[in-house]
Amino acid sequence: MTLPTRAVAPSFTPQDFRSALGTFATGVTIVTAIDSSGQAVGLTANSFNSVSLSPPLVLWSLARSAGSMPAFARGSHYAINILSAEQRDLAERFAAKGADRFAGVAFREGAGGAPILEGACAVFECFNRSQYEEGDHIIFVGEVERCEQREGALPLIFHGGRYFTELPL
Ligand SMILES: Cc1cc2nc3c(=O)[nH]c(=O)nc-3n(C[C@H](O)[C@H](O)[C@H](O)COP(=O)(O)O)c2cc1C
Repeated sequence: MTLPTRAVAPSFTPQDFRSALGTFATGVTIVTAIDSSGQAVGLTANSFNSVSLSPPLVLWSLARSAGSMPAFARGSHYAINILSAEQRDLAERFAAKGADRFAGVAFREGAGGAPILEGACAVFECFNRSQYEEGDHIIFVGEVERCEQREGALPLIFHGGRYFTELPL
């Protein structure tokens, strides 16, 4: 028997695929960096996951079409801010087109100038270690230089296209 060398064409629609992916409940992050002119950039992302404990590695993926792609592709560092239950408005703002995303947002500069958002559950300050082109996204693997956690903070949760502050049982 010869083994297949490539996948068969999908038997489902893009809508089916999105819907099935949406059953996987995730946290919500805002990934931030500065661009080549020193301007803060950031977007809402739930593609975050852990990769390795030693060395400490995490990953997330960014649409090739994202406006912030040049900043993340070329920058030395980014910060992954894990949003707390009170930060739903920030999640929505950092996913919306056209908004001045950082207007009125309290943050400090982390490694490489990447904004660290006040009130986040946890923050991973990453060296931009490697990037992998796959389909319509680029997978970023970050090497965590510093991480911090806010004691007692509850996470924001995303499931089925909706935000939750607690998962219903
Ligand atoms: C809950 C949620 C999760 C998202 N996750 C991602 C993600 O992991 N990667 C991505 O490229 N876009 C993701 N998006 C969409 C981006 O936030 C959105 O397209 C944003 O406007 C991109 O900003 P930019 O074009 O300024 O870079 C997500 C949106 C939402 C609401």
